[in-house]
Formats: sequence, C-alpha cells, structure tokens
Amino acid sequence: MNTDVQTWHYGAVARHWAENNTTGPEIAYYQRQIEQHGQPALDAGCGTGRLLIPLLRAGLDVDGCDVSGDMLAYCQQTAEREGLSPKLYQQALHGLNLPRHYQTIFACGAFGIGVSRQQDFMALQRFYDHLLPGGLLILENHPAYGQEASWPMWQKDARKHLPEPWPEYAGNIPEDDTEYELYYRLVAVNPLEQQTTGEMRTVVFKDKQIVSDTTFTLTSNFYFRHELQMLLEKAGFKVEAVEGGWTDADVTADDDVMVYFARKS
Ligand SMILES: C[S@@+](CC[C@H](N)C(=O)[O-])C[C@H]1O[C@@H](n2cnc3c(N)ncnc32)[C@H](O)[C@@H]1O
Repeated sequence: MNTDVQTWHYGAVARHWAENNTTGPEIAYYQRQIEQHGQPALDAGCGTGRLLIPLLRAGLDVDGCDVSGDMLAYCQQTAEREGLSPKLYQQALHGLNLPRHYQTIFACGAFGIGVSRQQDFMALQRFYDHLLPGGLLILENHPAYGQEASWPMWQKDARKHLPEPWPEYAGNIPEDDTEYELYYRLVAVNPLEQQTTGEMRTVVFKDKQIVSDTTFTLTSNFYFRHELQMLLEKAGFKVEAVEGGWTDADVTADDDVMVYFARKS
C-alpha cells in the first residue's frame, strides 16, 4: 500500500469494484472524447478498468495508472481474460512519472482523494508534463454540494453528530453465503480545509466466521468551480470548457459532477 496516499481501494473494496462497478455513462462519454481529442490516452486512476477495459476493447490506445495495486490486479485479470494487454502503472497521481506522453489524459472520480491539496496541485502539474503539446486534460470535479448525504453535515450543528455510528448490524454474520460486506460512515467534515473524512469497514466471512475486519480511511478534498479553474490555470492549462457530468452541455448549478477541458498550450 502507498502510505503517501490514504484511500480505501484495497482488499474487499477492490473486489467490490471489480465485481459490481462495470458500467456507467462515463464509458461511452470518454470513448467519444478520446476519439475526438486524440490518442494515446491515459486513464489516470483507472481502478479495476471499468473504463479502461471497454476503451481497449474499442481499439483505443489507452494506458492506465492507479495507486492501488489491488485495483490494478483486478484490472489486469479482466484484461487477460479478454486477451487485452494494457500498460498499467502503479503510481500516485502527484508523483506520476511515465515513459510516454499523451494526447489526452482523463481522470474519472480519481482527483482530490487520499492526498493533500498541495499534492492535488502537483498532480495537475504532472498531468501537464505528461501531455503532448496541444494535448487535453479532461478532469472530473465532484463538488461537495453534489454529495447528497454529506453536504448537510457541513453545517456547524450537524458536525457535532460526527463521527456517524456504524450501522447496528455491521459485522453480523450473514444468514446466506455472503463473502464480504462493506459499511461506510462519515467521520469528519472540515469546512475550512474543504475536506471530508470517511471510513469504509470491510468484513470478510468464510464458513460463517469473520476472517478479517478492516477499516480504511479516505479523505476527499473539495473544489468549487472557479477554484479548480484557477488551479488548472496556475498549472499552465487553458480551460476551454466546463461541462456538466458526461453531457456535452455547459455545466449548470444542478450538475453534481463537472468536467473540465484543460488544454496544454
Ligand atoms: C472512485 S475509483 C474510480 C476508478 C475508475 N476511474 C472508474 O471510474 O471506474 C478511484 C480510483 O482512484 C485511485 N486513486 C485514488 N487516489 C489516487 C491517487 N492519489 N493517485 C492515484 N490513484 C488514486 C483509487 O485507487 C481508485 O482506483
């Protein structure tokens, strides 16, 4: 595990991603973006390959990187099953050092988690350095106000109720042959730092016994629309557009995800 990055994408969480998160509107969206903006492309924070595998299947030249060896191992397994051979790199975004430059780099749900705000900015600089001249960064931003469950907890009075308790049934031996359970709770909100901390408890069962009970922590840094635009500009990018998540329309206040199109000049 990379101790410089604190995420929960390990063990049973990685397994859950591989087994359950295999679809979504992002796949067709990023395929179209790469076809339009060019290859080679880098899936930054590719995880178990939810996007990477279908993109490779579509014949696109896309590499993947991720900090979690567990997520990458599932990605590799799926790729091999399909006769695909992606170039996968186990690296943190803020320390990205790859042998190739890209026409398009995209980060889907992978920016702003597990690291400091300074490391987020370093990641933007690493993206810039890994683009070919004229290349495009397509960066997702998930603003705090789009997080339905946690946004009300940014209020002073609500924060007094943190950390949330685990559900009472957490860790109960299941009746059926369930092999693992995941439980989430919000632990802290820091409005000054625009950061939340959550925990994911993973309980693994075998023969009606608990084999492991592990709790991972994830910190998330949140950015408002203009703030991230300024950071991108500070890193050298020209922001050409900000779209609502996986649409081709300009972002509105009702979008829970915004996608930046940032050009390396
Ligand atoms: C929410 S998952 C998204 C995975 C994939 N992009 C998708 O959409 O299916 C976030 C991924 O980002 C990775 N990640 C989180 N922080 C990272 C960092 N600082 N550097 C590299 N990878 C990171 C995690 O390991 C995880 O695989």
